[in-house]
Amino acid sequence: RRLTVAGVRLEPQLREMLKEPAQSLRRGGLVAFPTETVYGLGANALDEEAVRRIFAAKERPRDNPLIVHIAHEEQLRDVIDEAQPLDADAVRLMRAFWPGPLTLLLPAGAALAPSVHPGQPLVGVRMPDHPVARALIAEAGVPIAAPSANRSGRPSPTTADDVEADLAGRIEWIVDGGACPVGVESTVLLLEPDSARILRPGGVTQEMIASVIDRPVLYAADAFDAAAAPVAPGMKYRHYAPNARVHVWWGDPAAIDEAMRAFLLEEVQDGEPMVPALIAPDDFVRRFGWALSEHRQAALPASAYAEELARHLYRLLRAFDRAGATDVLVHGVDPAHGLGAAVMNRLHKAASGRVRWVG
Ligand code: TXA
Ligand code: MG
Repeated sequence: RRLTVAGVRLEPQLREMLKEPAQSLRRGGLVAFPTETVYGLGANALDEEAVRRIFAAKERPRDNPLIVHIAHEEQLRDVIDEAQPLDADAVRLMRAFWPGPLTLLLPAGAALAPSVHPGQPLVGVRMPDHPVARALIAEAGVPIAAPSANRSGRPSPTTADDVEADLAGRIEWIVDGGACPVGVESTVLLLEPDSARILRPGGVTQEMIASVIDRPVLYAADAFDAAAAPVAPGMKYRHYAPNARVHVWWGDPAAIDEAMRAFLLEEVQDGEPMVPALIAPDDFVRRFGWALSEHRQAALPASAYAEELARHLYRLLRAFDRAGATDVLVHGVDPAHGLGAAVMNRLHKAASGRVRWVG
């Protein structure tokens, strides 16, 4: 069943509207809901049976741990091991970035369903910055385990329609709260004795984390290298990938122009006629968009390109598959700044190696 709450923001009103899906969660049901990053597929994190259903619905490998979502700090009590002292930097990070797109890996509590963190002593926890997510979790009254609400291997969904395309008939509820504002998943952070390691770059950037804690903030070795050995258990699987081949260029703007234009004018890829699609800043698309059908081009505002690319990337990859594209050409961004790290990390995975630096 689908329930639309898009546009409603007041907590009491949302809680009233979300009573049925919240009750479904309490009884072991699966409910897809919007967060500020992507749509999540939620189940009661304390109910092993319910959590196992998530893996079945998504066709997700059983060794890939889930993130637990809470609505308020008191819910941490049910999720983490309270016998262990909380890392002081974890507390600083919660104060600075919760609610928000930061997942902290913390010692897992005994009440959690074991399948939430298979074979892992740590559990990922975050407090989403979305009124619908928080109202639903608060109304359910239990912490909610929620991976992204896509079939495993596909791009994460950032709209309720994209959830429906992947999971219709497999879950109890889809709560439609409109498009997700950030568009890429949360930052996953591991606090190690002498450093903090970003296992997955996301909405809370390296600079933001470094501004709050004294430990050096490093990236996992596989963050921008599709060939490196994965660090987070989930990162070893094919990810974020549409059916079309994805190609990415980044580096010197003039060189990107030149290289993308040349590629766009090729007619054959891998021995077959190419049906190209394009994601680029609006000024680039104005110059080269004539080479493609309107359904296969996206012109994003150049003034906030990295943010816009993050917000629209997954939706566009899905739409271009439906439009029959064989190759999606993406104007990349500098991973050294802001959301660029998160976007380029996802593009590396989606493009499986077809990322070109030009300068
Ligand atoms: O923004 C998000 O984080 C979204 C929304 C729904 O909140 N959720 C999400 O969940 O992206 P999922 O399951 O698609 O990605 C979770 C990532 C995986 O790469 C997983 O391996 C990593 O977090 N992870 C979770 N728990 C972990 C743990 N205990 N140790 C290491 N990595 C962990
Ligand atoms: Mg996912």
